[in-house]
Amino acid sequence: MSTTESIPEKVRDVVNIELPGFEVPAHDDQAQEIDEQALTAEIKDLLREQDAVLVAHYYTDEKLQALADDTGGYVSDSLDMARFGHEHEASTLVVAGVRFMGETAKILNPEKRVIMPDLKADCSLDLGCPPDKFAEFCDANPDRTVVVYANTSARVKARADWMVTSGSGLDVVSYLHERGEKILWAPDRYLGDYIRSKTGADMLLWNGSCIVHEEFKAKELEELRAEHPDAKVLVHPESPPSVIEQADVVSSTTGLINAVKTLDAKKFIVATDRGIFYKMREQAPDKELLEAPTSGHSATCRSCAHCPWMAMNSLVKLRDALKSNSNEIDLPRDICERAVVPIKRLLDFAAERKQEIYGNNDA
Ligand code: 13P
Ligand code: SF4
Repeated sequence: MSTTESIPEKVRDVVNIELPGFEVPAHDDQAQEIDEQALTAEIKDLLREQDAVLVAHYYTDEKLQALADDTGGYVSDSLDMARFGHEHEASTLVVAGVRFMGETAKILNPEKRVIMPDLKADCSLDLGCPPDKFAEFCDANPDRTVVVYANTSARVKARADWMVTSGSGLDVVSYLHERGEKILWAPDRYLGDYIRSKTGADMLLWNGSCIVHEEFKAKELEELRAEHPDAKVLVHPESPPSVIEQADVVSSTTGLINAVKTLDAKKFIVATDRGIFYKMREQAPDKELLEAPTSGHSATCRSCAHCPWMAMNSLVKLRDALKSNSNEIDLPRDICERAVVPIKRLLDFAAERKQEIYGNNDA
């Protein structure tokens, strides 16, 4: 596996803490010989028999997204996936995404069976925020309201006052800032820095980052913009400040899809996981989409604009999990009881401000 040569961008007021290293899985590029039609039919039967609904993130394989749409399931961003799973009557939720999404579904629905195609599908933000070290950070700053991004483990959420997502972080932090609260933020330092720059809130940041978005390159993006001056630039806020600075729209995944649909431009440069192109093309087939650059002319990239953990989800693994009744999310009850508080706080807050936060999500 190659590594990126980029130097991470500095952000102020970041906690000085040594973070654990972790393995980044290699992309599995070997196409498997499968009868896709038969496999899809088998999964549809299993979903029906097991009273299960499939909820998929925009970054997963387009075949999983299509199957979710086709079977009465749902494809969306992390906030809306949580809301949908919570409101749906199925007794089993199948979450195609990364581990924290499955855990959030379980925390919100402890009575339901929650399974995932691959329980090892993790996230660099979650892996970079170990609960014990995070607890020390909280203990050292008892005067701050603890706001954590959804991309964290159940144990980290259990220590938080609020959970937010990329689609809701700005609104929640401005609300807390207006009430005079100081924030302890974890784990994504770039998203935290972006929210601080927009709200003026007093925020102390954990030192995590997303290995996918961190690789978008500012200088190469400038060059691409110069080649395509008519293109609008869409950026997910987990990207570094030098990339965010060049954006026409900074938003959650749902917000970026809505921008492609609604903006009066024909061409877009997109700085987020390229799995999102499936929904963007479906929603706006007449628009031209360009990937934002992830590496310099001679450099290499680790993720190459596709999350290696999201890529661990596949139709075969989904079928196997359903068939063998495996890959169930199991969490200690006391952790769930504490972690549900910051998640519910967000869902209630988002329900009150539905229009602003969910956007017009018919994607
Ligand atoms: P969204 O909430 O925007 O879907 O983001 C989740 C994520 O993991 C982005 O990398
Ligand atoms: Fe985590 Fe980044 Fe993958 Fe999103 S894209 S799941 S933040 S590693």
